[in-house]
Amino acid sequence: MSEVNHYVDYRREGGIAFLSMCHAPVNTLSYELRCAIDHYLDVAEQDQEVKALVLRSELSAFSAGADISEFGTEKSFAEPSLPALCDRIDRFPKWVIAEVAGYALGGGLELALAADKRIATRGSKLGLPEVNLGILPGAGGTQRLPRLIAPSLAARMMCDGKPISSEQALDLGLVNALLASSEHSEAAIHQLLKECEAGTPDNMFEQDYSLSREEETALLEYQAQQARRWTGLKSPQAIIEAVQRGMKSSLEDALALERKLFNDCAASPQARALQHAFFAEKDALKVPGINRDDARLAIQEVAIIGSGLMGCGIAINFLLAGIPTRLLDVNSEALEKARAYIQKTIESGRDKGRISAQICEQAMAALSTASDYEDIANADLVIEAVFEDLTVKQSVFKELNRHCKAEAILASNTSTLDLNAIADVCARPENVIGLHFFSPANIMKLLEVVRTERTSEPVLATCLKLAKKINKVAVTVGVCYGFVGNRMVAPYSREAFRMVLEGASPSQVDSALREFGMAMGPIEMADMAGIDVGCMAALANQHEWQGEESYQALQFALREQGRLGQKTSAGVYRYDGGKKQEDPEVLALAKEIAQSQGIEQRNISKEEIIQRCIFSLANEGFRILEEGIALRSGDIDVIYLNGYGFPRWRGGPMQYADETGLQNVLQGLENLQKNLGAYGERWFAAAPLLKELAQANRSAKSFSNV
Ligand code: 3HC
Repeated sequence: MSEVNHYVDYRREGGIAFLSMCHAPVNTLSYELRCAIDHYLDVAEQDQEVKALVLRSELSAFSAGADISEFGTEKSFAEPSLPALCDRIDRFPKWVIAEVAGYALGGGLELALAADKRIATRGSKLGLPEVNLGILPGAGGTQRLPRLIAPSLAARMMCDGKPISSEQALDLGLVNALLASSEHSEAAIHQLLKECEAGTPDNMFEQDYSLSREEETALLEYQAQQARRWTGLKSPQAIIEAVQRGMKSSLEDALALERKLFNDCAASPQARALQHAFFAEKDALKVPGINRDDARLAIQEVAIIGSGLMGCGIAINFLLAGIPTRLLDVNSEALEKARAYIQKTIESGRDKGRISAQICEQAMAALSTASDYEDIANADLVIEAVFEDLTVKQSVFKELNRHCKAEAILASNTSTLDLNAIADVCARPENVIGLHFFSPANIMKLLEVVRTERTSEPVLATCLKLAKKINKVAVTVGVCYGFVGNRMVAPYSREAFRMVLEGASPSQVDSALREFGMAMGPIEMADMAGIDVGCMAALANQHEWQGEESYQALQFALREQGRLGQKTSAGVYRYDGGKKQEDPEVLALAKEIAQSQGIEQRNISKEEIIQRCIFSLANEGFRILEEGIALRSGDIDVIYLNGYGFPRWRGGPMQYADETGLQNVLQGLENLQKNLGAYGERWFAAAPLLKELAQANRSAKSFSNV
């Protein structure tokens, strides 16, 4: 007997019922899938012939868990709810075996945890990643996992949010058997059922559990260790509470506690922000008219022009993905140094266990060098990463135009220059695109994919597909000075430096923004990037700030003194013995500049620092959105989350503006405009789009250029 509806395939073979989920692409446990599972549980329960039920998947994933897009909607609560379905499986009067192949995440794993036994194919991934969405496992996961494996390990797994392999799951006792592949499952199922024959199906509701003193100590020690990392985060703390208190209660009470903690977290701004980030990253890959699956150009060989740190970092991405990569530089000594650097970086990844010895070996074998453009004639993709100067880059592109094969994609890693002017020197501007990596390029996840008006669709589609292969988060943007990320950083850092002239100390500015959640403060970031680099960017952007004396005045003065940042052990801060320290000389210098420019120094509050920096950031985001440089506000957020250390739990600058309320952001900007005199008048005018959306009581998210 076999029955199929859109969501599951049900069949009985002898005494075993097979319930296979088939809700593409990843079996999210939507209302419809839950109803289908529940229905076939009825069928299996009523069928006297059925002795055991196997829950499995027709797809390559077992299940990606609850359907996040249902959160906050009626469907999410509609019965059968996911917790109710898990409880039903736990209490099911016949044996239930979960057969996991591929991903079993969140609610997907919770279904499996409620089964009596679990088998998993090698290479499967099992995890409870709800913490990444600002919530906790809410369908019994916080209670059933610690009742199956050591509670302190269960808590770690939930607080880390990282899935474990099926091999690790077997070691922990989370699965009962491992399969070489799903084809071998029948024998394993029969074996498990044979072992079960004597007993009755497990029902966790009827068993006693407790939390040993050792386990409780381990749990609390882990919580203490993570205190700094979890500052301001709600859900990891809630997970610890759920495990600690829940393990001392009956399962019934523990599940009620889990529900309460889940609801608290789910209603928090953090949960909204993290869920926004999840979907924004997926949406960023959706560019109208572009189908990544149609990417026609195969990238079998990559060439990188320029063997500096950026060139090396970019090369490492491709090498680790197994793509043969040639580094071109006219300076052979530089090439040797680059090779040694790449080797050291890749081997250190191996030594830290991040990559296998085999991948390390393959990556080094895929690296080659060249000093002549003729040697890269066969490359499918060339990425230029030379000095940030238009004339230099144009001369490289003239060479590429002359030597590279007709269909090669010609990419520039420029972070600020006019890509159209670069494309102009090529006879095939449709092949020209910007691939803006962020330093260190082998570590930072962000890739700004810059499309000119002439970039062809297949070229863009190919780059988006490639980004996934090299494990980058790609966002497509249009051409303007600094594209999205660096254009927005200009007003953000302008405010940071201006406030130092107005009397805030650099460490006060940095601490306020760190407390807000930024990975680094804007001033320490400027020291790290190089004060000279900041000055160069300011000079290139002169048209924006001409006539505004204070703009970067402190940075120019520091540059004159040779204080170029961390690299010279002194910039805004001093770095004696590598340790960052506030420098009274810089405070005095700031005071001097302020006096010469007629800027009055005063006390500046933490709130003002945050407002001026973050509102300026978002305000520029609204301009970018209005100009169509970014397709959606979520794209801007993805850029800031993955390239600029914006706290993920705040969702990005545009989500922060939405959460604050656009009317409040507008009001804040108008107040600053009024209260900061001529400076305020000049720099705090709200973007027209922000005004329009705020007045219409709309959110940034509701606006789209798609
Ligand atoms: N809810 C809604 N949509 C989801 C989803 C989910 N849980 N998981 C994946 N999707 C969607 C994606 O948005 C994407 O949609 P799109 O094609 O329209 O962009 C599609 O499914 C395919 O996903 P990916 O592109 O991410 O596919 P990959 O193969 O790269 O990755 C995955 C698969 C590892 C399963 C990844 O999608 C993932 O990590 N998903 C989220 C898993 C998760 O966080 N689960 C917990 C959910 S919360 C929960 O279960 C609460 C419970 O405890 C009560």
